[in-house]
Amino acid sequence: MSVTPPPAPVPGLPVLAGLCTIAQATAPGLSVDATVARLKRLHGVARAAHGALVSRLTAEPQYELKMLYSHHAWLLAELVAAIRARVGEMREPPLGLEDPLDPALQLALDEVTHAPDGTHLCAGLYTVLLPALDEACGALHADAHPLADAPTRHLLRHARLDLADILMHGRQAADALAAVSSPDATWLGEVRQALAAAGGVDGTAGEAVAAPSPRFSATPRRFDPVPRRDARFPDPYNMAVNAEAFIYDTSFPPEPKLLMLAYKRLREIDVPEMMASIIVETPGKPWGYVRDMTRQLWDEARHAMMGEVLFAALGVDWPALVRVNFTWSLGLNTQIGALDRHAVLYFIEQGLMPRHGKRYEWEIAQAAGSPLAATFQDYDWADEVLHARIGKQWYVAAMPSQQEALRAGDRAWSRVLMDWGAWKRDGLTNHDNWWPALYADACRRLGWPHDPRVAAFDTSYAEQRADLKSVSHSG
Ligand SMILES: [Fe+2]
Ligand SMILES: [Fe+2]
Repeated sequence: MSVTPPPAPVPGLPVLAGLCTIAQATAPGLSVDATVARLKRLHGVARAAHGALVSRLTAEPQYELKMLYSHHAWLLAELVAAIRARVGEMREPPLGLEDPLDPALQLALDEVTHAPDGTHLCAGLYTVLLPALDEACGALHADAHPLADAPTRHLLRHARLDLADILMHGRQAADALAAVSSPDATWLGEVRQALAAAGGVDGTAGEAVAAPSPRFSATPRRFDPVPRRDARFPDPYNMAVNAEAFIYDTSFPPEPKLLMLAYKRLREIDVPEMMASIIVETPGKPWGYVRDMTRQLWDEARHAMMGEVLFAALGVDWPALVRVNFTWSLGLNTQIGALDRHAVLYFIEQGLMPRHGKRYEWEIAQAAGSPLAATFQDYDWADEVLHARIGKQWYVAAMPSQQEALRAGDRAWSRVLMDWGAWKRDGLTNHDNWWPALYADACRRLGWPHDPRVAAFDTSYAEQRADLKSVSHSG
């Protein structure tokens, strides 16, 4: 019997699975202890940055900043989750991820999270704290053993892709705000000094300087739940146009419904404004909760931007022609507790699943012959499926039953006072009906036939239809 000899090794195949060369792997790397200690500091910074962004986006008036904060908060929530998972792979519980940080590092984080306005928040986060976090990720990537600690290096390499994106657009935001009013340079120097006193984000630089005294963080800062908007939202109490009553009326043609879809999507700015308040005011939850809720918050911000883009594609000058209100987030954030807000969100999102819902909106987009609107509604629908799962996992699971979870949402939504008449009496809005002008403008530019019955539509939210209650907003 003859034995086939094993094949000769093929020269030129990648060694060590492509991680590094043999020579590179012969140098020792960091210990598990040292790596875990550094990761915990990176974790503390990413978590604080996430918290700062989420807690500010509601009261931040600039629309672009609300969207940017939502995006960056999600990326940072994912980074925090990845670091927590990696520490959990290397250590037995308790992992000590909630332990107090180095006091000087904590001071740097507190100063930025207590920044008095968006200008200082962006300067502190995007020109000091997050560049230092990125640098610390780079240093750990360089110091970690490429073979022994390949998983940590993999995590950091991907984290730095996100951080590069965050820094590029964050710096752009900080520069734009600084061009309007300069941030306090002395304070920025103090934040840098606090970081230096901590030996940098990762603590490896040695403590060459003394920590500064707290400045902004010397005064406690409360979460501001009142949504604010910039001048593109000049009539935020206006509830003159009931988009759902128009969209669900099958006697109206599909084309003008595209305008209402764009409006409904853009109006979703108020969902991140509201969800941020749930996250901030529901402390002590597992990170999985924060991560999932932040993901949904970011999805809702994307839905708002889909509305912005759909208006752009239709050539609509929305700040001039459309009145996007904030009455939903204002009412929920200031009138009911965080759990009830989550209940309302779940109740509304459940209403979006059946016939009156996301499929219907997608069908409108198809019928109107808009591939862009169809794309947006397709993904809006898919996101809603994810949101239903998130609601089940984190809200329904805390309730006695699914039925009770829905009833609680219905009750809480009914309790929120939308005082249509009082806002008018108090001079907050006239509830001017902006629909006819928007419709006429679109007909003129897009060549739609002007249908007088469509133009005459003027159902306001003062005449809420009971059958549309669960879809009278977009979760
Ligand atoms: Fe949404
Ligand atoms: Fe949603």
